[in-house]
Amino acid sequence: MSLRVPQVRYEPCDELAALCKAGGDPLRLNVLRALANDSFGVLELAQIFAIGQSGMSHHLKVLAQAGLVATRREGNAIFYRRALAQGELLGGTLHAALLDEVDELELPAEVRQRIAAVHAQRAAASRDFFARATEKLQAQQDLIAGLPQYRDSVLALLDALGFEPGATALEVGPGDGGFLPELARRFSRVTALDNSPAMLELARARCDEEHLGNVELKLADALNDEPASADCVVLNMVLHHFADPAEALGRLARLVKDGGSLLVTELCSHDQGWARETCGDLWLGFDQDDLAQWAENAGLVTGESLYIGLKNGFQIQVRHFAKPDYTRPTGLITHHR
Ligand SMILES: C[S@@+](CC[C@H](N)C(=O)[O-])C[C@H]1O[C@@H](n2cnc3c(N)ncnc32)[C@H](O)[C@@H]1O
Repeated sequence: MSLRVPQVRYEPCDELAALCKAGGDPLRLNVLRALANDSFGVLELAQIFAIGQSGMSHHLKVLAQAGLVATRREGNAIFYRRALAQGELLGGTLHAALLDEVDELELPAEVRQRIAAVHAQRAAASRDFFARATEKLQAQQDLIAGLPQYRDSVLALLDALGFEPGATALEVGPGDGGFLPELARRFSRVTALDNSPAMLELARARCDEEHLGNVELKLADALNDEPASADCVVLNMVLHHFADPAEALGRLARLVKDGGSLLVTELCSHDQGWARETCGDLWLGFDQDDLAQWAENAGLVTGESLYIGLKNGFQIQVRHFAKPDYTRPTGLITHHR
């Protein structure tokens, strides 16, 4: 007797239906609104929306299945953030339009109050964490946030931009060069500038080890020297070392070719003053709106942003700013597919 094997049929419209279903609930829409410029754990979201954890897990599962939220594991905790709309995929246009409409919503006052309470708890957790860790504090940024915590988010933004094969990149302040292999894989030529000879040596060792033949390392000060422009300028955790970040952003924006992009990874504002002495930080993170304002003053257009909550209470912002190409009738980006 032959057994009938059930046929699994793939229906593209299932994906659209999942998207519509996920968007068809007021609580889920408000969750998407709350994630507009933050990322939260399931317990935090349950607290913010005053529902049980299992109820919130269910809603997050529906949103995740529809591709509207993405997750990031930080130790035992899972943080949820909004997923980027993929314009070229089925449902991408609907996804982008849904988020645009959601951003017009105003969260209820009590939800906003509970978000403020969650932020206050994070600040307390952060103070606690570092109070206990004081003996181990070393003069390195990794204490707060290291590349492994933001690499995937920067890459998600970078890959969503879809640069053309011949595009070039400039990384300012590559540190030990941990991000250079990723840039080298995605761009035809990469220039990396650092004003610290010791850091540049580490980056050089990394490039040799990984045989990165298309990366040029330069000992230079990004604010005083005149590097060549690039299609994509990347600054990971560097801006808070600059005395005048608004002016620096203006200067670095000029290095972006028309139609290109500036990607900035930074801490959100925090109150951990010790980071000044211990990590050499001049600024305790940045307000999201300030970064957008400085970029817009520099002629850039604010694009997508990702936010990464860390267990130590800090929050990272990964920001995309586009430089319009006014030689094009639409003023839009030309270096991207
Ligand atoms: C906190 S580290 C970040 C390293 C790396 N981007 C990462 O994400 O791990 C800051 C880097 O910026 C470099 N830097 C600071 N000011 C600079 C300047 N004016 N010009 C070039 N590099 C600079 C430092 O030497 C250091 O390598």
